[in-house]
Parts: sequence; structure tokens; C-alpha cells
Amino acid sequence: MPDTLTLALSKGRIFQETLPLLKAAGIEPLEDPETSRKLILSTNQPNVRLIIVRASDVPAYVEYGGADLGVAGKDVLMEHPQAELYEPVDLKIACCKLMTAGKPGTEVVNRRLRVATKFVESTRRFYAEKGEQVEIIKLYGSMELAPLVGLADRIVDVVDTGNTLRANGLEPMEHIADISSRLVVNKASMKMKHATIQTFIEQIRTAVRERN
Ligand code: ADP
Ligand code: PRP
Ligand code: MG
Repeated sequence: MPDTLTLALSKGRIFQETLPLLKAAGIEPLEDPETSRKLILSTNQPNVRLIIVRASDVPAYVEYGGADLGVAGKDVLMEHPQAELYEPVDLKIACCKLMTAGKPGTEVVNRRLRVATKFVESTRRFYAEKGEQVEIIKLYGSMELAPLVGLADRIVDVVDTGNTLRANGLEPMEHIADISSRLVVNKASMKMKHATIQTFIEQIRTAVRERN
């Protein structure tokens, strides 16, 4: 019996950009998550299935064995510094930057900066390393709105073209980290399904190298 492999992916850019890498490893989904309501997708390989989860849930699925493997943005992984998982390949997809941003010409003196973000852990660490005391407001999306309505002085979010910031009258300020998506692997799976997973990792590595 060949090992079965469950791979956790999020819909949208990660699914789309992972597809060509999977194809290079001989794996093609039989359904499209944009049109199917199914959360478990079979592939042309009877022993490989894809599960569709929220981008921010990929580390949990992989750490606790709901999936053997997953694809997660470094921004998401940085929110789980204690997660027990392997991160063997930088897939160099979904590239962007984690940055602070705010309204131009807004300096804050004599009080704590208020920072709205869904990246609480990275934000806390970034300002702690600068020795700056800030108040962090946890949001789940539409961070760009926060400075516009006086909820916060700054946001921390991912930036690619900068169009979203510009469209909302904000400017990028400080660079926190370069972000790309990573292949992550459950530790027990890596042991129990070693040969199968190692072959998969090598195929993905080769595909990444050939694309870059
Ligand atoms: P979510 O529903 O969590 O926003 P996305 O599919 O938008 O999920 O983002 C998944 C990952 O893609 C993020 O964790 C980040 O690493 C990366 N990403 C997010 N926005 C962009 C962007 N505009 N351009 C490139 N990569 C991005
Ligand atoms: C992401 C992110 C920013 C935007 C940055 O949103 O949250 O808003 O991309 O990209 P840009 O610099 O090229 O404008 P996304 O498109 O993922 O929409 P979402 O709100 O559904 O996450
Ligand atoms: Mg998004």
C-alpha cells in the first residue's frame, strides 16, 4: 500500500500558484475549489488528496496532523513561532512584504502609537525590538480602514503593489519582513511516511528551482 498524503491549501492565490508546482510533481486536482463546495478534493493520484482551509488555519491542520503537508505564507507562520512543524521549502510564490503603513505626515508624540493588524505576534515583536511601547488592536481584515476612521495610527499588513494602501490614502512606512509561501510538513508524517514525503519535497524543490 502506498502512503496516503493529505495536503492543506487555501483557496485563491495560494491554490492557484501552488497548482503548477503540484503539476510538476505529477499531481493534478480533479476539482476546482472556486466552483466546488467540497473541502476535500481528490487528485489524479489516488493516494493524494487536497483539503481546502483558511490560510491562517494551515499551520494548525499541519501541526496537529489534520494534514501531512501544507502551504502557508511566512506571515502566517510568523504568527505561530512555537508551532511544531518542518518548513523544508521556500516555494517563492505569493510574494509580498509585511510593512507598517499609515496616513502621510502623521507623527505621534506623547502617547502610545495604536497599531491595528491581524499580525499581532509579528507586530508585537517588531515594536518590542525597536523598544517602542505600542497598543495593538487585533483585526481580521480591511486593516486599511483603521487609520481612516481614527481607530489606529498605523497598520501592519502585507503589501505587494501598494495599490490597496494608495487607494485608501495610506503610505507604506517600515519594512518588517519579506514574505513568500512555504511548504510545511507534519513532524510525525515526516517520520512515518519518510520516503514518500522526501520524494514529494524533492520534486517540489526542483519545480521551484526551474521556475526561478
Ligand atoms: P487571506 O484570506 O488570509 O487574506 P490570501 O489568499 O489573500 O488569504 O493570502 C494568502 C497568503 O498570500 C498570505 O498569507 C500572504 O503570505 C500572501 N499574500 C497576501 N496578500 C498578497 C498580495 N496582495 N500579493 C501577494 N501575496 C499576498
Ligand atoms: C491583500 C492584503 C492587502 C493587499 C495588498 O489583500 O490584505 O490588502 O492584498 O496588495 P497590494 O499592495 O497589491 O494592493 P487581498 O487581495 O488578499 O484581499 P483580502 O482582503 O480578501 O485578503
Ligand atoms: Mg488576502
